[in-house]
Order: sequence, then structure tokens, then C-alpha cells
Amino acid sequence: MTVTAPEPVPVPASVRGRFIVLEGGEGTGKSTQAALLVARIRAAGVPVTAVREPGGTIVGDRVRGLLLDPAHAGLDARAELLLYEASRAELVAAVIRPRLQAGDYVVCDRFTDSTLAYQGYGRGLDLDGIEALNEWATDGLRPELTVLLDLDPLVGVRRATGQGADRLEAEGAEFHARVRAGFLALASGAAHVVVSASASIDEVAAAVWAAVREGDAALVSAPERA
Ligand SMILES: Nc1ncnc2c1ncn2[C@@H]1O[C@H](COP(=O)(O)OP(=O)(O)O)[C@@H](O)[C@H]1O
Ligand SMILES: [Mg+2]
Repeated sequence: MTVTAPEPVPVPASVRGRFIVLEGGEGTGKSTQAALLVARIRAAGVPVTAVREPGGTIVGDRVRGLLLDPAHAGLDARAELLLYEASRAELVAAVIRPRLQAGDYVVCDRFTDSTLAYQGYGRGLDLDGIEALNEWATDGLRPELTVLLDLDPLVGVRRATGQGADRLEAEGAEFHARVRAGFLALASGAAHVVVSASASIDEVAAAVWAAVREGDAALVSAPERA
């Protein structure tokens, strides 16, 4: 009789770290809140990596440049979708999955819901098709928690264009309304929390922090205010 060692059990990518995503339209405060959240997690003594989409890798940042260049306003919607997915695949493979496996928390500014909201609900591409591409590009990795920052798109675009408009921000009000409705539809599941982004930066940060700390043993002993 031969005795063979048992096959190693594959460890899910998120078993050690925690993958948290901030979503929402233009100017809802994602980048502002991502920075504050990362600072709070770090202050709690938990290792954390901050990333954003599109970009976050050398190739991804070049793809980001292509996507946000106003000179590419006529880009075909399917080509645009595939560029987002290419950036995402590289970010997941090169940064997010390895950092989670190393035990980091990962905070990502936009992820798969943005693609569904903009390319699906906004531009009208087939949602099931986008879902399949999201699944493929991420190799099945999903956020443990997605915090949706919800805001009237007119307020958001006004906030954002204070910093200069890019191609996406130049879209019409109806498009942004569809995107907002899409984000809200996607946020009905258990892995999502909706935070109203119309309050002050500090108030929104407190709501985001409460959502992230909820049920998290590593963070629950951390101070309510960093
Ligand atoms: N709660 C808020 N109230 C007022 N202004 C805000 C708030 N959150 C963010 N801002 C401002 O709005 C602009 C866009 O914020 P940003 O974090 O870049 O949004 P996003 O990354 O979602 O596009 C920035 O100038 C930021 O300082
Ligand atoms: Mg931003």
C-alpha cells in the first residue's frame, strides 16, 4: 500500500486580508474617502494597500491614460469595456490578489460595479456579458464589501469639474442618472452598503468607517474617530 500526502487545499485569495471597494459616480468623494479609510485602517494597526481603477499597475496606468484622454471620445463602447477589463485583470493578478494573500486589507477606488454601472446601465451594453467579463478578468475575485457613495450626479459632476473635466465627466445628465440608478440596483445585495455622499467629508467618512468596522474583529477595537 502506498501512502500519498493529501493534496494541499487551495486557500481562497481573501482568506487573510479583506477586499473593500468604494464605488460611486464622478465627484461622490471616492478618492477622498479611500484616502481617509486607508488612514483609519492603518491607524488600527492593520496593513493596508490602496489601489484605484483603472490603473494601479504600470500597464494599467497607461490604459487609464488612454481611457481618460478627451481625444478618444469616440472610442467604441466594447473596446472601452475591454480596456477596463484588461486594466482590472492586471491589477488583480499583480497587486490585489498577492496583497490579500500576504494578509493586507486592500481598498480599491472603483471596481467591477463601475463597469456594470457605466458600460452596462450607462451605455447599454449587455449586463450579463459584462458580468461574465468581470468574472473572467478578476478570475472570480469579488470584494468582501462594496461601499457605494450615492449622490445626485449634478452635485457630483459640479464637485468633480472643479478639478477639470475629463471625457467621462463631459457626458450628459441623463447618462449620469442612469449610472446612479445602476449603482443603486447593484447595491441591493448583502456585500454592499449605501452611504449618502451629500454630507460633509467628515460625516461621510464616519459612515464609511462604521460600515467597514461592522463585524470586523481586527478593526472593532480601533477608535471610532481616527
Ligand atoms: N462630502 C463632500 N462635500 C463636499 N465636497 C467634497 C466631499 N467629498 C469630496 N469633496 C470634494 O469633491 C471633489 C471630488 O472628490 P473626489 O474624492 O475626487 O471624488 P471622486 O473620486 O468620487 O470623483 C474634491 O474636490 C473633493 O475635495
Ligand atoms: Mg476619484
